[in-house]
Amino acid sequence: MPRTVIEPFRIKSVEPIRMTTREERERLLDEAKLNPFRLRARDVLLDFLTDSGTGAMSARQWSGIMQGDESYAGADSFFRFEAAVRDVTGYPFVIPTHQGRAAERILFEVATKPGDVVPSNTHFDTTRANLEYDGVEPVDLVIPEGLEPRSRHPFKGNVDLARVERLLAERGDRVPFGMVTVTNNSGGGQPVSLANLRAYRDLLRRHGKPLVLDACRFAENAMFVKLREEGQAGRSPKEIAREMFSLADGCLVSAKKDGLANIGGFIALRDERWVEAARNLLVLTEGFPTYGGLAGRDLEAIAIGLEEVLDEDYLRYRLRTAEYLGEKLLAAGVAIVEPTGGHAVYIDAKEFLPHLRPEDYPAWALGNALYLEGGIRSVEIGSVMFGKVLDDGTETHAPMELVRLAFPRRVYTQSHFDYAAEVIAETKARAATVRGVRITKQARTLRHFTAELRWA
Ligand code: F0G
Repeated sequence: MPRTVIEPFRIKSVEPIRMTTREERERLLDEAKLNPFRLRARDVLLDFLTDSGTGAMSARQWSGIMQGDESYAGADSFFRFEAAVRDVTGYPFVIPTHQGRAAERILFEVATKPGDVVPSNTHFDTTRANLEYDGVEPVDLVIPEGLEPRSRHPFKGNVDLARVERLLAERGDRVPFGMVTVTNNSGGGQPVSLANLRAYRDLLRRHGKPLVLDACRFAENAMFVKLREEGQAGRSPKEIAREMFSLADGCLVSAKKDGLANIGGFIALRDERWVEAARNLLVLTEGFPTYGGLAGRDLEAIAIGLEEVLDEDYLRYRLRTAEYLGEKLLAAGVAIVEPTGGHAVYIDAKEFLPHLRPEDYPAWALGNALYLEGGIRSVEIGSVMFGKVLDDGTETHAPMELVRLAFPRRVYTQSHFDYAAEVIAETKARAATVRGVRITKQARTLRHFTAELRWA
């Protein structure tokens, strides 16, 4: 049996990508105020900014696009979408939204009140921001191994149940529900085990609290469970995914990840409690309940994507992609979050740039250095994203300073990853010359998207 895990598809349609010179990239990054979000995509060679909405659709999805029923109300496409979501989640109530954060905004407005506290393993930045916008405190209670880049715990996304129990004992009256992000994006794309989900569900249930999954990457999580959790090897990713959803009461999903679509999201719920209020809000800002901010063709693409993403060969290749790049980086002496996650490789910038202090935003500086070295765009998951300026002018910092290289689904080939490994190794050879950065302009929330910076 050949050992190479190949891309389980062939390519029918291609898009050129463009080489630039180092001089050009220096100018382009300066013009972008040292913020990769402000670069034009045409000036990026390998775009590892995000795996969200950047995937390649299949021929089947493209033909689904042509079947889109664009009726305002009651379109066939909605019913195909609803059936696909019900098939995977088992939840009867399905509310489409234009993307994940719209699902968050709507559910949080309906299901929380100011002063509430919502625990999770790690809230993603939009989840955190949407809770805070409603006056709710998001609390991150991932297991301690989840914050140690070098710990090889198989389920570093697990929730620390002892700390949740303490939170429920001390402030239980303020907890409207528990959340968990599968896989744990901000903690390295790390999976959550079925055993942890079950125990978390039981704990919440004893306190009468529902569990809501942030399930953007449910299929990748299911595959990790198959590969790593005892007794799960013989089950299909779909069976495992269904069990994950069966352990919760509802989910928020950005279909731009494991929906294999370029846009879309949904809320799906087991019982009626929040449904009517959510649909009323939906009409106000997203659209009628059978399209929720999407075109009929988008609903078709998601319905097909939810089915394709659970293909075992696809998921094996998908998880192998990150593992493959991770192995090459470790061989080059680059510290990464281990084991590699599902959708991305996370470089530990504190180790990569030991001469920089947290105030120098090492992960941001490293992301810029990778662009200058080889035209690779990444994203900082560190103190620019999670740090805060307090009222007294001092600043908080993130527990880890990570550079995330996130992989669009079915887009790049093995040689693109070989190239990326070379660029990162070459950047490491000149790591001592990489300077820190300073923020010169920032927004109050989600500052990383628009901030302007300069070299220190
Ligand atoms: N939850 C998680 C865990 C996410 O990773 C994201 C998006 C969202 C919610 C919000 O979904 O973008 O459709 O509104 N993550 C992207 C990323 C942006 O790059 O990790 P959205």
